[in-house]
Amino acid sequence: MGESDLSGRRIVLGVSGGIAAYKAVELCRRLVDAGAFVSPVMTAGAKHFIGATTLSALASEPVRTELWNAAEPIPHTRLGQNCDLIVIAPATARVIAAYTSGLSTDLLTNTLLATRAPVIVCPAMHTEMWEHPAVVANIALLRSRGVVIVDPEHGRLAGGDRGAGRLASTDSILTAIRRVFKSQDLAGRSVVVSAGGTREPIDAVRVIANRSSGRQGHAIAEAAAARGATVHLVTTATIPASAGIEVIEVETAAEMQASLGRIAPTADVVIMAAAVADFTPVAPTQHKLKKSEGPPRIELVATPDILAGLGATKPKGQILVGFAAETDELEANAVAKLEAKGADLIVANDVSEPGVGFSHRTNAVTIFAHHREPQTVALAEKSAIAEAILDRVAELLTPSP
Ligand code: CTP
Repeated sequence: MGESDLSGRRIVLGVSGGIAAYKAVELCRRLVDAGAFVSPVMTAGAKHFIGATTLSALASEPVRTELWNAAEPIPHTRLGQNCDLIVIAPATARVIAAYTSGLSTDLLTNTLLATRAPVIVCPAMHTEMWEHPAVVANIALLRSRGVVIVDPEHGRLAGGDRGAGRLASTDSILTAIRRVFKSQDLAGRSVVVSAGGTREPIDAVRVIANRSSGRQGHAIAEAAAARGATVHLVTTATIPASAGIEVIEVETAAEMQASLGRIAPTADVVIMAAAVADFTPVAPTQHKLKKSEGPPRIELVATPDILAGLGATKPKGQILVGFAAETDELEANAVAKLEAKGADLIVANDVSEPGVGFSHRTNAVTIFAHHREPQTVALAEKSAIAEAILDRVAELLTPSP
């Protein structure tokens, strides 16, 4: 990876008290060399092992050590709120326990509680401590909350002991940092996804529907949220969504169009995975049609093409993705939809193939873009298809300011 691949990334480097604190100095230098803006925070314990001057000289700004600092009234929230990542290296058993139980005792533990940024914990301690059930349980709990743990290595420890507990190598920690940033490639982006098949009312109880389950759209919403995006999901499906995804439940094409009309204009990415009815009954009756009235004659009218409407009014820089469910002439139809609907990508699937598309847990798609060869994504879980679509979206997004 390039020398400046962490350019512009704001990283809080938390250093707690252990002999491995000296290795944080090297980590700090490597992060700054890679272009990151590093704000170091030392605990009181860390100051017994390394001098604040050393770290200040190498970091992007002076070390912070105090919770109460007259020059900066609320550093405990500002740091956590404004960073892209917190790395604690080394992390002692004390800091790990405080973080796990939500205890804010000093600037570092306050910062950990006041952040929504990803957190990487790099433990370093004696083998007995690392293997203590309390530490094992705390680490398991942190992992379950999505905290990245860079496991310590086996090797020589302070005082001549040998065993598990030595801080992971600087290279391993840097790899973990890069992996987090790659996995957060939609951080700061707003993504709107539509999902499910619309239901157009015939009478008080009957609808014209289609076989879409909403699973592909929901999988895209989940994947986008996991990659750091703010997600709005306009859906007809009742699949539960993760906390943090803003779900807007709709039923008809008209309701879907109204919701999207409100939220799509400010989105960075709009993905129309919904199977929108092309026609809707002109005059659905308010009462339930009776069998005795005989077979109804249902007059239909075309629904608005939501995707084409969004394509026609697309703000500059927004990425618009449409789907194309086809049973034949996949390529010709998909390319035509790319042009006709003003989309940047069309995700086409041949719904006549086994295991593909509507009502399946799996899908196989070909992604069409302007001036590029189509990309085929072989049959896979809808979550994997979602990642492949978002990879293409991420490529098209211009870098954040
Ligand atoms: N779409 C839409 N509004 C509609 C119909 C479709 O926004 N009234 C969107 C779908 O969400 C999808 C794309 O258009 O992203 C293509 O949908 P599809 O049903 O494959 O195509 P149609 O436009 O309906 O064309 P055709 O019936 O000829 O296949």
